Amino acid sequence: QSVNDRQWGCSMLLLMFILSVGSVLGQVSYSIPEEMAKGSLVGNILHDLGLQTKRLISGKARIYTRDSDEYIELNRERGVLLVKERVDREALCRQTTPCALHFQIILENPMEFYTVTVQITDINDNAPTFKKNEIHFKISESAIVGAKFVLDRKALDSDVGINGLKSYSLNPTDNFVLRLNDNADGRKGLEMVLEKPLDREKEDQLTLTLTAVDGGDPQLTGTVQIHVTVLDANDNAPVFTQPTYKTSLMENSPKGTSLMTVTATDRDQGTNGFIAYSISNNVDGILDLFEIHETSGEVRLTGNVDYETSKNYQLDIKAKDHGGLSDSCKIIFDIIDVNDNKPEIDLMSTTQSIPEDSVLRTVVAVMNVHDADSEKNGVVKCFLADTVTFTIDNTSNGFYSILTNSELDRERSPEYNITVTCSDEGVPSLSSSVTLTLQISDVNDNAPVFERSSYEAYIVENNTPGLSVFTVKATDADWNQNARVSYILEDSSVNGVPVSSYVSVSADSGVIHAVRSFDYEQIKDFHFRVKAQDGGSPPLTSNVTVKILIQDQNDNPPQVLYPVQTGGSMVAEMVPRSADVGYLVTKVVAVDVDSGQNAWLSYKLQKATDRALFEVGLQNGEIRTIRQVTDKDAVKQRLTVIVEDNGQPSRSATVVVNVAVADSFPEVLSEFTDFPHDKEYNDNLTFYLVLALAVVSFLFITCLAVIISVKIYRWRQSRVLYQSNLPVIPYYPPRYSDTLGTGTLQHVYNYEVCRTTDSRKSDCKFGRAGSQNVLIMDPSSTGTMQRIQNEKSILDEPDSPLEVWNFPICLYLIFMLKFASSEMSKGSVVGNIARDLGLDVKRLKSGKARIFT
Ligand SMILES: *[C@@H]1O[C@H](CO)[C@@H](O)[C@H](O)[C@H]1NC(C)=O
Ligand SMILES: *[C@@H]1O[C@H](CO)[C@@H](O)[C@H](O)[C@H]1NC(C)=O
Ligand SMILES: *[C@@H]1O[C@H](CO)[C@@H](O)[C@H](O)[C@H]1NC(C)=O
Repeated sequence: QSVNDRQWGCSMLLLMFILSVGSVLGQVSYSIPEEMAKGSLVGNILHDLGLQTKRLISGKARIYTRDSDEYIELNRERGVLLVKERVDREALCRQTTPCALHFQIILENPMEFYTVTVQITDINDNAPTFKKNEIHFKISESAIVGAKFVLDRKALDSDVGINGLKSYSLNPTDNFVLRLNDNADGRKGLEMVLEKPLDREKEDQLTLTLTAVDGGDPQLTGTVQIHVTVLDANDNAPVFTQPTYKTSLMENSPKGTSLMTVTATDRDQGTNGFIAYSISNNVDGILDLFEIHETSGEVRLTGNVDYETSKNYQLDIKAKDHGGLSDSCKIIFDIIDVNDNKPEIDLMSTTQSIPEDSVLRTVVAVMNVHDADSEKNGVVKCFLADTVTFTIDNTSNGFYSILTNSELDRERSPEYNITVTCSDEGVPSLSSSVTLTLQISDVNDNAPVFERSSYEAYIVENNTPGLSVFTVKATDADWNQNARVSYILEDSSVNGVPVSSYVSVSADSGVIHAVRSFDYEQIKDFHFRVKAQDGGSPPLTSNVTVKILIQDQNDNPPQVLYPVQTGGSMVAEMVPRSADVGYLVTKVVAVDVDSGQNAWLSYKLQKATDRALFEVGLQNGEIRTIRQVTDKDAVKQRLTVIVEDNGQPSRSATVVVNVAVADSFPEVLSEFTDFPHDKEYNDNLTFYLVLALAVVSFLFITCLAVIISVKIYRWRQSRVLYQSNLPVIPYYPPRYSDTLGTGTLQHVYNYEVCRTTDSRKSDCKFGRAGSQNVLIMDPSSTGTMQRIQNEKSILDEPDSPLEVWNFPICLYLIFMLKFASSEMSKGSVVGNIARDLGLDVKRLKSGKARIFT
């Protein structure tokens, strides 16, 4: 190269020589590398120009240059060119090549000059450089493969030639490659091409090193850092930490309870990673129960969860980022049961009343008990408050029957309030109770009972017929008709006469009337039986003995039996004149048919010829002398003795006793021949007696006629219905019970009612027994008279019973059927339970079969 340069330099010098004024003596050129140290030898001009050192000194050789900087100096003594200043080729020539220093060496005396060219050769002293140390890119991770990124700042290397910029390299090469391409203006463009997609989530910052290399030896390099910031793209969906969350929750938890928190993560950044939670169930009601906090994912309770409604709840939770990507998870809440439901008692069927003679273990009610809670909280036990009379049986799951457990007695307890309490086994236990009222219906199981075991009554003789003597009373513990007592006189005879001719009994009041006037002197007492009969069916009876005692009245005067009173004949007692004091003359004997005080007689002397001579014994009626009879005493003595009974008022009779005081009968006769005033008296008496007899006879006949007619009339009456003057007791068929709707009713029953208003005319025609209910009315009754007669005329048969109305027992059958399917029309047959359950249709009707659900 130096030869070339030299040749090139020679031709230049030749050209300069021709152009200049011929004083150019020679030229020389040197080549030195740049950056030589100061004082380094460039060339020896003595040798090269053929000069002498003396000439140099004498010629004051010097270097002439137009450049201000002097890089080269001349050493005259040695005749060499030395480096005066360090030469930097890049500073001197930049990219120009070749680079040379041109100067002249001028000599004086004589003037001569030599041209010197010093060629500066390049050394690799500059590395490639980039203007900036770093380059920043922001590239979205979603950038597609092949995307180009221009690196517009190229490296510079001030060296030239082989020392200049040679190539680039990029490190690491994971994602990008370098590509040089030809631009339209011919310059090389440098760009970075995406070869592998970026992922911000893996690496959000990439640092690449771009290295520029020159061709020197050793090679020098320049680098620049390329910082790639990977921008986020919404390429990641949120992800829940668990696909399914499971937790439990007590029912009845208060509203607002925080239940749990779900978390989802999104690897994206910023809004792409911003998650909103929501409940995505489309099942009704869930949104009323739960809510989720949109940003925190906290699930809260907003309603009341009920174990009985749902044992668990499933929430579908959605997490969604702002870029629209989402994930979902499930939360399963298992609800824990709390004992919050009372047992529910449902009375399926109850009996309003049962007859008191129901057999043991008669079902009174059937009920269904249900507790909506589960397990222990739903286990129910039922018991009764009164375990003596009733008992409860759990027939099958949840069904209970209440049964009678002891004999019932309406008379003791006509009504029961049966309280059933059902409680569950929860802690605390809940219970509920129901009370049903059961009426015990009456059965005729009590006979009437008389207040006393026997009665005794007194009646004063000479009573008026029809007088009410006294009242018997019987009570019946049964109810209503079964307790309606009627009194019946039982047939018997008193002294051969039917007792009914003595007394009658009022059937409904029990008042005993005397039928006739009694005479104590004929009958002193009698007894009979009164039967009390209730209105049950069959009726029950009891009887009582009634004794009637007739009381005496002082209705009879004493009767003097002795001395016999004869009309005109004279009977006289003889008293001998020699009789002593106390001589028993005679004894007045009187009786009184009354009794007691009424028959207690006393005798008194009412009148006497000589009161001093006789006395009458008060008690015994003995007439005795009370002094010695003397001769002066009249032969004929007349005593009037009055006999009195002790009745109130007392009745009396008088008797005249003639006493003859004489020793011989003729003497007496002579004395008793005439009693003139007595004869007159007797005549008058005879007349009055005849008159009285006629009057009495007439009265007697009249009375007799009246009495006979009355007797005949009564006799006919008593033959018809002497014992009853009240409605005849209705008679019911044997299985009749006074209430309806009990289990014992199996048929239709008859009601036969007889009514009369007049006991004396009562007449009851019993209807025919059978399945019809017949009401018979006596035509003489007033109220329905008109109607009855109409009926009668319709029936056109005077003796036939009147059919006024029937009482069929209303039975009803509620039969509701669930439709097997909605397509079936109303009334379609679902099943035949009579056949399938083996039931009788009659039983279905009588049992009021209905559906309980
Ligand atoms: C009735 O209850 C008792 C006690 O709870 C139980 O042992 C029995 O099995 C039950 N009977 C029926 C038929 O459910
Ligand atoms: C049953 O209950 C009713 C109503 O509470 C009450 O009037 C009646 O006296 C009770 N009967 C009995 C026998 O306790
Ligand atoms: C009257 O009652 C007694 C028991 O008190 C009974 O032995 C008798 O048979 C009854 N007489 C009549 C006629 O019913």
